[in-house]
Amino acid sequence: MKNSDQGTSPANEQIAELLFQALETEIGGVAVYENAIRCAQHPELKEEWEKYLEQTQNHQRLLRKALQSLDLDAEQETAGRHVVRHQGKSLVHAMAMALKDGTPDAAQLVAAECVVLAETKDHQNWELIGEVVKALGDKANRALRQAYEQVEDEEDEHLYHSAGWARELWLQSLGLPAVLPPPEEKKKVKTALEAAQVKEERKEMTATSTSRRGDR
Ligand SMILES: [Fe+2]
Ligand SMILES: [Fe+2]
Repeated sequence: MKNSDQGTSPANEQIAELLFQALETEIGGVAVYENAIRCAQHPELKEEWEKYLEQTQNHQRLLRKALQSLDLDAEQETAGRHVVRHQGKSLVHAMAMALKDGTPDAAQLVAAECVVLAETKDHQNWELIGEVVKALGDKANRALRQAYEQVEDEEDEHLYHSAGWARELWLQSLGLPAVLPPPEEKKKVKTALEAAQVKEERKEMTATSTSRRGDR
């Protein structure tokens, strides 16, 4: 794979845009987790979201530090950032609707999906920040590099484990064999490849419970 050694450097203005959007995603992420926790029924899911909430608060701090070190105003508004804020608020609104109108289990499902949606953007932001840091090499801002190194693994966990929860909670609600907590947790999945492998393995895990269901 080609990298920065080939001499392509990212556009400064768009790096700033990415960082503003990343900060706004983390701000929205805090609100998403605060509301998702209210929807959580499964104790281990609640515990997990409480942990992710703390990590998201820390990501926000790290990004503010990096922006400051780059002489960028963390409060600067951009059209893209406005959209990210809108998306975050929509997710919070969706959970409020589910809590008000649906059953507790349905609200938990909505919350799990909202977390996956929020974490998809969050994960991509940090993946892109990683690309920027790698492309800039020695010229990369130190605070940004340190932030990336601290956050990278946590974002992998946020996305893959949350997707596992959403899938298994849905299966459970359908009366189909479900593995809870999801196998992504037990296997500590950190990459898309591991996530795909776990999906294959879970078929075997659920085979026993399927035959048990057949007895009913
Ligand atoms: Fe984050
Ligand atoms: Fe995250």
